Amino acid sequence: MGNQKSQTFPTAALFGWYDKHGRDLPWRRRWPYLASAYHVWLSEIMLQQTVVATVIPYFLDFTRRWPTINDLASAPLDDVLAAWAGLGYYARARNLHKAAVMVATEWGGQFSGDHRHANAVADLRALPGVGPYTAGAIAAIAFGQQAVVVDGNIERLFSRYFAITTPLPAAKTEIAAAYAAILPVDRPSDWPQALMDFANAVCTPKQPLCDGCCFAESCQALARGLVDQLPVKPVKTPKPVRRAIAFVAVNDQGDIFLHRRPNQGLLGGMLAFPEIGLASKQADQNLDQTMAPFAADWVLLDEPVLHVFTHFALEMKICLASIEGTPQPIADDIKGHWAKPRPADLPSLMRKIWKAAAAMLLPPHASR
Ligand code: ADE
Repeated sequence: MGNQKSQTFPTAALFGWYDKHGRDLPWRRRWPYLASAYHVWLSEIMLQQTVVATVIPYFLDFTRRWPTINDLASAPLDDVLAAWAGLGYYARARNLHKAAVMVATEWGGQFSGDHRHANAVADLRALPGVGPYTAGAIAAIAFGQQAVVVDGNIERLFSRYFAITTPLPAAKTEIAAAYAAILPVDRPSDWPQALMDFANAVCTPKQPLCDGCCFAESCQALARGLVDQLPVKPVKTPKPVRRAIAFVAVNDQGDIFLHRRPNQGLLGGMLAFPEIGLASKQADQNLDQTMAPFAADWVLLDEPVLHVFTHFALEMKICLASIEGTPQPIADDIKGHWAKPRPADLPSLMRKIWKAAAAMLLPPHASR
């Protein structure tokens, strides 16, 4: 605190660095060219809690299949969810589709057009899944506006450069104020992207490259020996652990039994193996194979699969069975279908489960 009134920032040095080392990303254009709002919005939603390298092939796939927001709005939700499989946080994909429908039907298919005015940030926030960060990013990167855009990378860079010692998330207000105070008039779309790339490549979370950093002379954390302590993170409470069992049934065609999870809740709308226990917050429930979706010779695998969600960690046991004929469901809420295993259509947890189960299945021609 206290330093923000007379803030200066080596803006020219940052742009110089960006011109040399900034990444060429498929959704990116360099000032004075602006990327399309559709591309910026799509990439920013994908980049929420997912790294750039993972997002690139998904972004290319989405924009190939659905070149405009109207195409995305017209696509069946199931196709969008299947294309999203592997990116995680499926509520994002449902909101993405909802927002596309809203832009297509209520904004005449134009992300920009009428919305390219001074209140773009407020308008954009009406879209499902678009919070202050994403709205600011679209306004700055696609519309060239002087909006505040603070992601985790910029939080780290600013906490250090201005030696902001307030712990996160309380520090966010100071960081946003510092951002607003130094926002340059020039190159508004490049500015946040230059900051993000720089924080990602130089002002990294661990072992930042302070030697030779073009901000070293004026970085307050460096001057005060605080680099390793900033940003001050919130105290982490350990995630609770949930335990569940997934039932993987394979028939004599090599098909697997899957169902579509309800739209609301965890992995909403995604393809999944039937399971018990996932929705319950109690870790010590008595779960066993008698609760399987149908009777079969279920074999419990030795090793559970571990998976970390935002709010809890999951230890998922796996029961595997070979089935002949049509199984008789004993759990009446399971309406599933048999399908060829296509890991790309499954969310990451189900992919992990399938990988563990498939490793136990003998190749078709092997003899026992
Ligand atoms: N992370 C999130 N959005 C980004 C962008 N536009 N450029 C680089 N990294 C990002």
